[in-house]
Amino acid sequence: GTRPFQVAIDGPAASGKSTTAKMVAQRLGFDYIDTGAFYRCVTLAALSKGIDPSNPSQALQISNLAESSHIGLKTIFSTTSASKSSLPTTKVFLDSKDVSFEIRTGTVSKHVSAVAAIGPVREAVLQKVRDMGATSISQESNSGRDGLVMDGRDIGTVVLPNADLKIFLVADSRVRAERRLQELARSGSKEEVLDIETVQKDLERRDELDRTREVSPLRKADDAVELDTSLLTIEGQVDAIVQEVHRRQQAASSSSSQ
Ligand code: CDP
Ligand code: CDP
Repeated sequence: GTRPFQVAIDGPAASGKSTTAKMVAQRLGFDYIDTGAFYRCVTLAALSKGIDPSNPSQALQISNLAESSHIGLKTIFSTTSASKSSLPTTKVFLDSKDVSFEIRTGTVSKHVSAVAAIGPVREAVLQKVRDMGATSISQESNSGRDGLVMDGRDIGTVVLPNADLKIFLVADSRVRAERRLQELARSGSKEEVLDIETVQKDLERRDELDRTREVSPLRKADDAVELDTSLLTIEGQVDAIVQEVHRRQQAASSSSSQ
């Protein structure tokens, strides 16, 4: 039978993955899974237990937490055509508690890459992400959504190696830092206001950790399409991806009908 269309979106920090993925999912009526949220939840769980994630001797404890934590995502899509261009919101639940804001704080961002580099943590998250992907597209879920968009660092290479479309988003680190700062300002965050240099350095440090770790490093899959968003608008990059999905769906249906 035909399986639901899968879109994999990867790229460095603040390259536009989640914004783009949510809008593509909304336009196409697909489901959306934010895999970074899983690593952020495990990091938050460790920090709230007083564990220092950068201390290598704590890896086993953090891995146990990754296995035992229950992580849930709920994305609210607009269905009216007037609001179809608005950004869907994703709520994140850790052991039934809404942690949507807590997982985006500077403290979690600072430690998340160390947590994501722990092999057994990645195995536990991979299992949870695959289970969620399977449920979201099964008929039982009754979601009525007919495809899936997932974003992260290893979606095209590890999580969905057979995805129908793989996108690798990149953007200049200065541009990414500016966008992250604007995002923080818009969200009305009460955290201390950071300067652009600090934000840029933090993004670059995290990218370096993500690219050089041994397990599932951040890497463009060989068959991924690279999009540089430095000079694009969000609408521009969303349009490009939506058109490419349509093109591939048509190509697949015309080749199967021959
Ligand atoms: O939104 P932002 O790019 O800042 O981060 P995120 O997508 O929420 O991911 C946070 C961190 O989780 C990344 O820096 C990676 O260390 C890790 N991650 C990963 O290793 N693999 C994924 N598939 C997704 C996230
Ligand atoms: O998920 P990831 O960390 O890759 O990025 P994000 O959380 O989507 O943040 C990217 C920020 O850049 C968002 O505030 C977007 O509105 C903004 N942006 C973009 O993604 N693409 C553009 N062409 C322009 C702005």
